[in-house]
Amino acid sequence: MATPTPPYSAYVFDAYGTLFDVHAAVRRFAGEIGPDGQQLSDIWRAKQLEYSWVRTLMGAYQDFWELTEQALDYAFAKVPSADRLLRQKLLDAYWKLDCYPEVPAILRALKADGAKVAILSNGSPAMLEAAVRSAALDTVIDEVFSVDALRRFKTDPSVYETVTTAWRLYPSKISFQSSNRWDIAGAAKFGFRTVWINRTAQPDEYFDLKPELILPSLEGLTKAT
Ligand code: LAC
Repeated sequence: MATPTPPYSAYVFDAYGTLFDVHAAVRRFAGEIGPDGQQLSDIWRAKQLEYSWVRTLMGAYQDFWELTEQALDYAFAKVPSADRLLRQKLLDAYWKLDCYPEVPAILRALKADGAKVAILSNGSPAMLEAAVRSAALDTVIDEVFSVDALRRFKTDPSVYETVTTAWRLYPSKISFQSSNRWDIAGAAKFGFRTVWINRTAQPDEYFDLKPELILPSLEGLTKAT
C-alpha cells in the first residue's frame, strides 16, 4: 500500500507549554520550594504571558527572557513561602526544560512523511536554541521562528505572518499546534489551520475562533491529520 500523503506539508508548533513543559523548572526543585511550588509556577507563567500582551499593546517590547525574569520575581513576591535563593536555579532550568514525552517521536513521524516542521514562539532566539538543543530536537526541527525580530508578541498577526512570508505558503496550508487556547485564537484569526493541544483539559473559550481539531497531546496528530 502506498504511504498516504499527509494533508499538511508544514507543521508549526508553539514552544512553551506545547513542546516544552514550562512547569518542569519548578517541579525539578519541588522539594526545596515547599508546598506552594505549583502556585509559584502558575503565577510565573501567567505574569510572563500578561507582560507579553501588555507590552505589545503599549509598543514597549522587552525580550521574553527579561519578561520571564520579571515574572519570576513577581511570583516570589506573591508566594513568600518559596525560597528566593532558588531564583537562579529556576531561571537556569528554563533553558533546559523537559519536552513532553511524545514530542520527539511525533515530530520525527511528521518529517518522515515529508512535512516541514518548525517552532513559532515568543521565546528569544537564544532561549529557543538552548531548549531545542537540550531536548535533542535540533535534528528534527527545520526552522525556529522567534518574535524577537518583530519586537511584538503573539497574538499580533505579524507574528504568524513570519511563517507564511518565509515559507511562501498560504496560511490555510499550515497546521499550527499550540496548547495555549489564546494562541490558537490568534492563529485561527490569521487563517492557519489550528490544532489545540489541550494537555490539561481546560474549558474552551474564544468561540468565534475555534480550533479545527482538539487533541489531549501531540499523540493523535499523525493519525488525525
Ligand atoms: C510561546 C509561548 C506562548 O512559546 O508559550 O510562544
